[in-house]
Amino acid sequence: MNRQQAIGIIDSGVGGLTVAREIFQQLPNEKLVYVGDNARCPYGSRSADEIRAFTYQMIRFLEQFSIKALVIACNTAAAVVLEELVGQSDLPIIGVIEPGARAAISASRSGRIGIIGTETTVRTQAYVRALRRINPDLYFASLACPAFVPLVEGQLLETEEAHQIVTESLEPLKREGIDTLILGCTHYPLLAPLIQDAMGNDITLINSGEETALGLSNLLAIHDLHAASGSVEPTHRFFTSGDPQVFKEIGDQWLNRKLFVERFLPE
Ligand code: SIN
Repeated sequence: MNRQQAIGIIDSGVGGLTVAREIFQQLPNEKLVYVGDNARCPYGSRSADEIRAFTYQMIRFLEQFSIKALVIACNTAAAVVLEELVGQSDLPIIGVIEPGARAAISASRSGRIGIIGTETTVRTQAYVRALRRINPDLYFASLACPAFVPLVEGQLLETEEAHQIVTESLEPLKREGIDTLILGCTHYPLLAPLIQDAMGNDITLINSGEETALGLSNLLAIHDLHAASGSVEPTHRFFTSGDPQVFKEIGDQWLNRKLFVERFLPE
């Protein structure tokens, strides 16, 4: 592995762009190759076997780019495969769950933390385990929000329907007395204004992307793999198994740059 190789980032769709955006900000010299499996999104209500198979297809696709590190931006995929993958591979790999848990613990004043995610992320208790490893004495309230990802992938963010779905879905969490809420799905930061509105301004929302980019930076430092700063901007590549035009529209807006999006055909 060498410093000028790209960082691979995989997600079930466009949600990982929230992590890519943080990487662009914190690590502007790094080159990214992003793969989004939009055609089979959402992963959150699929079986563990399917999630594992799809995640490994994306990783195999990335092999041709000889990446120097891998970011599993999808919480659901990280909940299912991260531990086994880290045990099998020499590649530096980071998921979004540990970094999100760390950020929530440092943000919470009361020690009462809420977690929202897909059905799989909530069922596997990946966040609860990560939080308990850091501090077993906290209070956790988890809620699966399966209706949220389709709002993002379907470009419905600005609609009354999205407002209503978010407000109604989060109702049970409002009785839990939490002061911090982990957005435990990479799609959710795109819904952050609606989530904040539903939960109230005194709740701190945790976007794992920020802390994941920091964790990635530490991982690159440990392996001496930070890209050297150069005079030319790094070129990034974006692949989707879905509609490149839809991916581009969401990506251009979220990343505030013009993306060239290519096809990824899972095998
Ligand atoms: C999904 O594909 O269901 C959501 C992605 C995530 O869990 O971050």
